Amino acid sequence: MKDKLDGIKCAALDIIERAENTSQLNDARVKYLGKSGEISLLMRDMATVPKEERPAMGKLVNELRAAVENALNAKTELISQLELDRRLKEEAIDVTMPAKGKRTGTLHPLTLITQELIEIFANMGFSVTEGPEIESDLFNFQLLNIPKDHPSRDMQDTFYVNDSILLRTQTSAMQARIMTQSKPPIRVVVPGKVYRSDDDASHSPIFNQFEGLAVDKHITMGDLQGCLQTFAQKIFSKDTKVRLRPSYFPFTEPSVEVDVTCSMCHGKGCRVCKGTGWVEILGAGIVNPAVFDACGIDSSVYSGFAFGFGIDRIAMIKYGIPNIKMLYENDMRFLKQFN
Ligand code: DAH
Repeated sequence: MKDKLDGIKCAALDIIERAENTSQLNDARVKYLGKSGEISLLMRDMATVPKEERPAMGKLVNELRAAVENALNAKTELISQLELDRRLKEEAIDVTMPAKGKRTGTLHPLTLITQELIEIFANMGFSVTEGPEIESDLFNFQLLNIPKDHPSRDMQDTFYVNDSILLRTQTSAMQARIMTQSKPPIRVVVPGKVYRSDDDASHSPIFNQFEGLAVDKHITMGDLQGCLQTFAQKIFSKDTKVRLRPSYFPFTEPSVEVDVTCSMCHGKGCRVCKGTGWVEILGAGIVNPAVFDACGIDSSVYSGFAFGFGIDRIAMIKYGIPNIKMLYENDMRFLKQFN
């Protein structure tokens, strides 16, 4: 019996000594101290020991149990210390690493330009309004002297919702709304999205326009020219010149197309202005009396001027943006530049 105890002790201490992790230690604990572990089973063998030897034998078994228990506990502590050290090393956070920067948003270039435009025209006495993007044929075309089948409808590839409802092709639609709803004097600008079935480097199916309308007694082409001159110098630069060329729009008579000196080369001629020194930026004119009549304003008393341009185009010229799509792709590398 005594030899058996010594054998168990040797084997147990050896296993504990060689254990490398908590789970191996747990296995050893079950093997020797568990309910049917080797040491527990020794108690059963007591029956075979002569009665007078039993107390001494019992003492030896208890000593064995204590020795194994102590060895297990000591090794458990050692291993958990080693495991803790390893985890601390692996999961360490380097507090000297630079933090990930927080990115703050910036206003979109179109928003920046629109805000600037509104301020320029507000300083000239214009108020600001907006209108619906889903518009009726009546305001977008008919009241602006563009009846059904008018050839100028071909210039604006329209997205129709149905026969009489469409996505507005021009903020000019708001001219008709404003003139049917309010009395002169009127001085208003209208920024907003417009839609056309058109898609290339300088055309996007969705883009932004900026409309202006002034109606009062004695308004002349001179007022229009002065207003646009001020606008061009404020949005581009002080030395910007404006040029009016005769043109045609159904809702203005006479109509003009307006060029400004190229802000890239200041009129010398470059790639942006295709060597001419001028870039076309807008359409304008004296409000056609036919439009006044359709909208219920007395054309024998009042006159007015109107103009409209693409905000995108102004942004492209001002910032040298080569493709209109860049304004709608939301590429952070592009947008970040407009801080
Ligand atoms: N609505 C025209 C367009 O989209 C631009 C325009 C031309 C607006 C003349 C006007 C104007 O107010 O008088 O092409």
